[in-house]
Amino acid sequence: MIENLYKIPNHVAIIMDGNGRWAKRRGLQRIEGHREGTKAVERTIKFARNVGIKYLTLFAFSTENWQRPPEEVNAIMSLLVEYINQKIPLLIENDVRLLFMGRKEKLWDSVLKAMEKGENETARCKSMTTIITLNYSGRAEIVDTVNKILKSGKKEITEEEFKKFMYRPEIPEPDLLIRTSGEKRISNFLLWQLAYTELYFTDTLWPDFDEDEFLKALYDYQSRERRFGKVLDE
Ligand code: IPE
Ligand code: IPE
Ligand code: MG
Repeated sequence: MIENLYKIPNHVAIIMDGNGRWAKRRGLQRIEGHREGTKAVERTIKFARNVGIKYLTLFAFSTENWQRPPEEVNAIMSLLVEYINQKIPLLIENDVRLLFMGRKEKLWDSVLKAMEKGENETARCKSMTTIITLNYSGRAEIVDTVNKILKSGKKEITEEEFKKFMYRPEIPEPDLLIRTSGEKRISNFLLWQLAYTELYFTDTLWPDFDEDEFLKALYDYQSRERRFGKVLDE
């Protein structure tokens, strides 16, 4: 048990940023930063599961990230295939369900296959759900949602109904968003879902993110008063 840890967020979303800078500082290729970043992913999933977080969403690749040099994009895609396939047994062992979210278009067949395998093989795991957002952006999700609604023939819609047309309506909204690497922006992540999420920024680069860093974010979250626009009783 970790001392004085209470008020565990149900859903934590993370913008895993700073892999490139981590590598650059060491005179390494950017891809080495991404490779090191996968170790932080594993630590983070295990820790989240062990403290009782129920949903963990990780931003792995944005729709804008295709604009990076092709060598980097290719290396990230290969790393994804390798990593997903390799880690499925560990996820099952930890009773962690894997889901993906984002546009399927443009993703390599081998990536799509690994995604499907990961989702299928962990489908019965219940302790925590990890959602990897891949070829994802918040605006793309909103536009895809609107197009689905138009196809359904609806002429008018409520917020509740809108939500039902989104990629993963069953997943509750994040309580806490963590972004590493010192940047203080959302970079087109979960635009709709983050409406009332608590934001936490750390200068730590993603490959250096560990249990202590995660714990710092959780302690900070504990001290937040979430009002959702209301006045709380004095
Ligand atoms: C985050 O690290 C990983 C991806 C966006 C795929 P970056 O690659 O953005 O690292 P920096 O921001 O350049 O340091
Ligand atoms: C956000 O990081 C996307 C991911 C972490 C996958 P970026 O590095 O792409 O964001 P910007 O370019 O700094 O806004
Ligand atoms: Mg970055």
